[in-house]
Amino acid sequence: MIDIEKCQITHYPAEVLTKRAEPVKEIDDNIRQLIEKMTDIMLKNKGIGLAAPQTGVSLRLFIISLDGTRENIKVYINPTVTPTGEPGSTEEGCLSVPGVFTKIRRYKKCKVTATDLDGNEFTEEAEGLYARALQHEYDHIEGMTIANRMSQTAKIAHRRQLKKLTEKNKDKQ
Ligand code: NI
Repeated sequence: MIDIEKCQITHYPAEVLTKRAEPVKEIDDNIRQLIEKMTDIMLKNKGIGLAAPQTGVSLRLFIISLDGTRENIKVYINPTVTPTGEPGSTEEGCLSVPGVFTKIRRYKKCKVTATDLDGNEFTEEAEGLYARALQHEYDHIEGMTIANRMSQTAKIAHRRQLKKLTEKNKDKQ
């Protein structure tokens, strides 16, 4: 049982952001409440995607709304994201790594298979920003953030901000 009241945005290098999340076993009221809470947190922070570990919950679940609106939020439960196509680098940020905006190498296209809130499995092909968002959120449930994905050069360029976040958040879950 997830204590929804306790869910709040987690920041690098919180432990929950570094481990592989567990599959969602059942889509019950608790999961629906978690998604409501994740939606509120994402909209409040003006994000276009948010994964459960970013609210302190180690479950394989994320939401995406490419235009940042509540109406266009899509839910991905127990997703699989398979990259296809060519790699490419674009600037990216993450609500869990505030103050860092950096080029991340990802694939230009991908395929996602997931379960929606009604328990139905769906598959989609994605490209552009959508493909990038899916790979970014999938990284979160695999225990990875842009802080791990960024190049050595970017790590050096952002070392002060990463150090600041580490000192502030190292003892947090
Ligand atoms: Ni993120």
